[in-house]
Amino acid sequence: MAEYRAELRKLAGQVMEVMDENLGLPKGYIKNAFNSGGEEAFFGTKVNHYPPCPKPEMVNGLRAHTDAGGVIMLFQDDVVGGLEVLKDGEWFDVQPMRNSIVINTGDQVEVLSNGRYKSAWHRVQAKPDGNRMSIASFYNPSMKATIAPAPQLVENGGVGVEAFGYPEFVFGDYMSVYAEQKFDPKEPRFQAVRAM
Ligand code: OGA
Ligand code: NI
Repeated sequence: MAEYRAELRKLAGQVMEVMDENLGLPKGYIKNAFNSGGEEAFFGTKVNHYPPCPKPEMVNGLRAHTDAGGVIMLFQDDVVGGLEVLKDGEWFDVQPMRNSIVINTGDQVEVLSNGRYKSAWHRVQAKPDGNRMSIASFYNPSMKATIAPAPQLVENGGVGVEAFGYPEFVFGDYMSVYAEQKFDPKEPRFQAVRAM
């Protein structure tokens, strides 16, 4: 697990640099933002087990949500499916695929990128057959990091600005709001943390 985590941490670094480049930000911008506030970014790993369910239509495996943090890397079961992502109002399967890592960007990347990278809604459906396992690793800002849209992206007349302006906040405050509102729409979370 320690070796696996070390490799995924490197992968998160590479993903952040690719996003820096795609967004036209200086190399290291996202990583630096996540490591701001005098504390290092948080790198966590969570192991999930979804047992078979005799009445899958009556329960959720995991309710629809967006991930709060930065870059989430999911090593999901290569046999038992269930993960779905919302795109254009429709749920799509994220099929099991051998030797692959599913990359998901969290709410903090949405804010930093001023809405260019949206945090995607996803959920896990319960299944009648098979045990599903997944290992989610997340590279998140430190609790003291200040998160805000990159000024470069706001001045360019960013996509998100007109729809609604993203707030500036300390990540720890965002997590307090998220703990209460994880399964609710995103916008009120941004509004609530703005008011703090
Ligand atoms: C999560 C998550 C999906 C999965 O932990 O936030 O979305 O496949 N997990 O377990
Ligand atoms: Ni998730």
